[in-house]
Amino acid sequence: MKKLVSILSIVLIFTGNSIALSAKTGVRQHLLIDNNWKFIQSDVKGAENQVFDDSKWRTLNLPHDWSIEGEFKEDAITKGPGGYLPTGIGWYRKHLTLSSFGKDQQYWIEFDGVYMNSDVWINGQHLGNHPYGYTSFYYDLTPFVKRGENIIAVRVDNSVQPNSRWYSGSGIYRHVWLNIAGPVHISQWGTYITTPEANPASATIAVRTSIENHYKINKNLILRSVVIDGSGKEIATQETPVLLSLSGKTDVEQTIRVTSPELWSVDTPSLYTLQSTILEGTKVNDSFITTFGIRKIEFDKDKGFLLNGKHIKMNGVCLHHDAGCLGTAVPEQAWARRLQLLKEMGCNAIRTSHNPPAPEFLDLCDKMGFLVMDEIFDEWVEQKGQVGFSYHIYFKEWWKSDLLSMIYRDRNHPSIVIWSAGNEVPDQVTEKGSEVMQKLVETFHKEDPTRPVTQANDRIAAGDGPAKLPFLELQDIVGYNYVDRWNERRELYYSVDRHDHPDWKMIGTENVSVGGLRGQYSVAPDKSDRRPGRSRDYRLGMIQAEQLWKFTSVNDYVIGDFMWTGIDYLGEAGWPNKNSSSGVIDLCGFPKDGYYFYQSQWIKKPMVHIFPHWNWAGHEGKIISVIAYSNCDTVELFLNGRSFGAKSYVFPQQGHSKSWNGYSHPYIAPTTSDLHLAWDVPYEPGTLRVVGKRDGKIVTEEVRTTSKPAAIRLSADREEVVADSHDIVNVKVEVIDENGLIVPEAGNLIEFKVEGEGILIGTDNGNPQDRTLMKSKKRNAFNGLALAVIQSTEKGGNIRITAVSADLKEAVIQIVSTK
Ligand code: GAL
Repeated sequence: MKKLVSILSIVLIFTGNSIALSAKTGVRQHLLIDNNWKFIQSDVKGAENQVFDDSKWRTLNLPHDWSIEGEFKEDAITKGPGGYLPTGIGWYRKHLTLSSFGKDQQYWIEFDGVYMNSDVWINGQHLGNHPYGYTSFYYDLTPFVKRGENIIAVRVDNSVQPNSRWYSGSGIYRHVWLNIAGPVHISQWGTYITTPEANPASATIAVRTSIENHYKINKNLILRSVVIDGSGKEIATQETPVLLSLSGKTDVEQTIRVTSPELWSVDTPSLYTLQSTILEGTKVNDSFITTFGIRKIEFDKDKGFLLNGKHIKMNGVCLHHDAGCLGTAVPEQAWARRLQLLKEMGCNAIRTSHNPPAPEFLDLCDKMGFLVMDEIFDEWVEQKGQVGFSYHIYFKEWWKSDLLSMIYRDRNHPSIVIWSAGNEVPDQVTEKGSEVMQKLVETFHKEDPTRPVTQANDRIAAGDGPAKLPFLELQDIVGYNYVDRWNERRELYYSVDRHDHPDWKMIGTENVSVGGLRGQYSVAPDKSDRRPGRSRDYRLGMIQAEQLWKFTSVNDYVIGDFMWTGIDYLGEAGWPNKNSSSGVIDLCGFPKDGYYFYQSQWIKKPMVHIFPHWNWAGHEGKIISVIAYSNCDTVELFLNGRSFGAKSYVFPQQGHSKSWNGYSHPYIAPTTSDLHLAWDVPYEPGTLRVVGKRDGKIVTEEVRTTSKPAAIRLSADREEVVADSHDIVNVKVEVIDENGLIVPEAGNLIEFKVEGEGILIGTDNGNPQDRTLMKSKKRNAFNGLALAVIQSTEKGGNIRITAVSADLKEAVIQIVSTK
């Protein structure tokens, strides 16, 4: 393993302003140039010029999102879709000193994502404009770089609003890289690895390598491709002679066979690397590493999705790209934490709604074993709703290069199993929509014939203008958003189309989840939303999702479902809310009750979860409904030791195949056909306890009436962080009573103090109506909890976090930051 780690860490984090070229010319450098950028949040004349005084500008590290630093204001130009945060125009400048400067070296700068409408200059020379905020792009710097100081200037224009239906963030919100390579090198995104044959006995690895020759002469070289397994062992090598014509690009195809591969799967996400080296005799011209997985994917109209021949239902979530108080400049660790939570819920699939994610997000999905639907657009030609300046104004000119950017950048990720060409594009109902769909599908198929293409259609059975049949038939997999939205489909779901189009492959690209507010319970009838699954009433919020899940889970032909959404996201809200609360995890990354509904359906390990809290002073003797999510055979509820009875559901129904009455499992008398259990309990303070039983195993959960808030408890998701000025630790705040119980309705104001080698970069509590600055040191708890996110500095040392609050005993926690 060690060897692999050292190979992967060839990626250097470059923190200073000066770059010395590697002494070994020919070995490429892939330098993270995130640190020490100058920034100003306004439009400035002449800032693209090399000579310009930026000394008064702020110095910061990328990734950076300036919107999240702003105030939530009802009259903000972004309105509800943008979470009432500011946008505008910003400039970034980077002073880059190349202390040694190799003749014939090639230089290019790579932006993982800038929102939006960026213009980039080097030394006053304009390199290009890139409107779309979610695709990666790069510029050749070779003709313009020089020894000594170089100035990269970036103007980011997110001022033309509205341009997004959700919170987009503003700025260079993803990493920036400087690549330096020899005159003969592998192109940007220049390796394409597929595994046409993959089974436990052997695999065929097909490699296409694009090589550029910047010499003015032909070159006879060798491409050596080495497959390295997860332990760092070289398991196969292939060398291919290559004739590179002068100043040209050549694609080299190789086929490499390996035996007994470790197949990539959601449970065992084994990864391999391919080391591609271009040799001229013994001289190394370039060396490049690609991570990939060996796996076989199949989509079958009857069986759904098969991974390595095994059927897997996609238990999916849709995710937007922000991470709450961090905005869209999301450190990798924030996603690692969130994905781990989703994994523990039993989620195995993610739809990157509605745009390509950061590359490191996909790396995490590869490593952690998620299936990914990588989506490119939310709009094509037709405008959606009131968002006048969104992608439709760029589509005609930019669709191809944006699409190619996503495909070339992402196609080696084993996690990606489906491409999505769009979300609910209004073009689905227009005459011309099919032509656009066709162009997109053809491009996907040409550039990556190994994955199917879908589109998230929301108008398949719309009475007032359904999606056109040819439009749907162009899709390799027909994507259904809100399959139960249309009256005639509320119980029939996909079955109507299954009957009419038996050859269609079908997937729930987006459907209702069990959202709501974490820890918020009301016993008053909820009149806010009449849709059964959208209710904020804790007793009803799961019903629509349960019904849908029953259908999805027993019909193999339905590939799976992606709920809207896994995690709450900023924007798409109405004042006084700043964020959507459709997730089963709140903006802080704290699970809501709905999280446990999915867990009860998706994981095998016995579990039980009950709610609401048990602090109902004033309701003594009145009925409070207690709900349990569980995968146990029976669950019994006790209040202060008195049983309220054991209940169970059985889903799917028991069946028998051999003889009449030949059931293989003990028959459990169901008390409901729901997927949750409910008891009406007259309130008295004390302890509610559920006991779940399955196969002789017992699991329990307790909810106790608490007394008033007495102290703060802090816990960190990590004891140690890396001193690289990127890594983070998430500190959870719990407001507890004298017995250490979380006080479920506590809203105490907490103040954070961070000392040592850490910086507080965000606080939150998951309450959509809390509009305190996201960078504030002070934050009220919401229903007993709050979050503080602390980032390391470049120096190793201790980070000490203190949380204080009037009337509460303070808490301190210490983290170590190491180089
Ligand atoms: C869907 C849409 C999502 C989000 C959601 C809100 O129709 O695809 O982006 O807007 O509705 O419920």
